[in-house]
Amino acid sequence: MMKIALVAAAVAAGLPIVVTTAFAGVNAPALPADFRSWTVVRSQVVSDPDHAMYGFHQVYANKPALRALRSRTRSATFSDGAAFVVSIYEPVQSAGTTTPGAKRRDVVRVKDRRAVATGGWRFAAYDPAGKPIAIDAAACYACHAGAKDTDTVFSRFID
Ligand code: HEC
Repeated sequence: MMKIALVAAAVAAGLPIVVTTAFAGVNAPALPADFRSWTVVRSQVVSDPDHAMYGFHQVYANKPALRALRSRTRSATFSDGAAFVVSIYEPVQSAGTTTPGAKRRDVVRVKDRRAVATGGWRFAAYDPAGKPIAIDAAACYACHAGAKDTDTVFSRFID
């Protein structure tokens, strides 16, 4: 039943149908080894400790992600392989400044149209030692779905 619904959704979205058994277990993306050399898109502090993305964020985009992000037309979809990493640090407030303290985790998303259940993106999270953290990709996607006009990407490129 679930598979039928997913295939129907893929057809409706004009996506290619891939091996159906892959839907449930679309692999979590690895933490890209070189992401610190990617382009910093922007930084942001989510100061509410109850927010799922609490922390001092440094957002990185690889080249395909950057291209879509910077296009004036704000292309509604990113190409497969477009990727973002957010390094999330403990926000440290001192003497009127907020700076990144200890790393909390890195979160990753990689565009992959086969991941239809999560909007065509694969999600993952890693602890500061680089070990995978168990996540519910559906919960990641549920919040990100709010940015539906930008292929569920919240980040903007700031000049
Ligand atoms: C409660 C809402 C919420 C949830 C849940 C959430 N995110 Fe996000 N996410 C955001 C917001 C808001 C931003 C923009 C942050 C910024 O610009 O610093 C963001 C940004 C990102 C980005 C950078 C690209 C983009 O989409 O802007 C990645 C990668 C990311 N999140 C991964 C994840 C992963 C992985 C999970 C699940 C473990 C997750 N997110 C869960 C709200 C959420």
